[in-house]
Amino acid sequence: MLYSVEEKEIMSAAVQPNMRNPDIGVEPFRHIIKKYLRRAAFKNKRILDIGPGQCDFLDLAKQAGADRTYGCDFDPAVGALGELRGHDMTVANLKQDWPYKGTVFDGIFCRGSINCCWFSSEERLGVFLDDVAASLSPKGWMWIAPWNNPVPGNEAFLEVVERVRKEWAEKNAIKIEVPPLRKRAKYGIEYSIPRIEIWRRQ
Ligand SMILES: C[S@@+](CC[C@H](N)C(=O)[O-])C[C@H]1O[C@@H](n2cnc3c(N)ncnc32)[C@H](O)[C@@H]1O
Repeated sequence: MLYSVEEKEIMSAAVQPNMRNPDIGVEPFRHIIKKYLRRAAFKNKRILDIGPGQCDFLDLAKQAGADRTYGCDFDPAVGALGELRGHDMTVANLKQDWPYKGTVFDGIFCRGSINCCWFSSEERLGVFLDDVAASLSPKGWMWIAPWNNPVPGNEAFLEVVERVRKEWAEKNAIKIEVPPLRKRAKYGIEYSIPRIEIWRRQ
């Protein structure tokens, strides 16, 4: 959601056209929090949103008592919006590198912003997933709904994704949940991709 003329102005330059829409709903984030995360998930915690878009989840985390809120996005407009709202932003392309090596969070959230198919080799995908897991504290929570859409012409890579992310999830005590159809719109994850899933640790 974009609230002021200044915010709308900043996001009018967003790389992804859907992020320019001022009326993207906050409600689905509230539903996700209500269903999956308790207040204890935020109070005095350091929370990262990967690809936060309009930064609504980070706002809710802060309102729920998060100590510090971090967002990482390749879009400078998203970086500027997050800074304006008081979040600690990093502008980086996740296809190229994980910017939080050596940094640990109490909670990592992501809705629709990472795609395992970005990485055209099993090795690079494995490195990315390991980097994400290494940035979560041992008792930290994860809620990630990836947008795993194959790159046209490389649909076969989805089979690699299936295996690699499953092994990674087992190694890191992460559950892979397939949300029922009726819940997808509620959480804002009704994407038209081959497989909609949520990676969770609590
Ligand atoms: C579909 S939007 C989702 C935004 C927000 N998580 C939500 O649920 O409304 C994807 C977000 O990921 C960011 N993004 C896309 N590709 C990226 C990349 N390679 N590196 C970093 N951020 C990226 C976009 O700029 C955008 O903010």
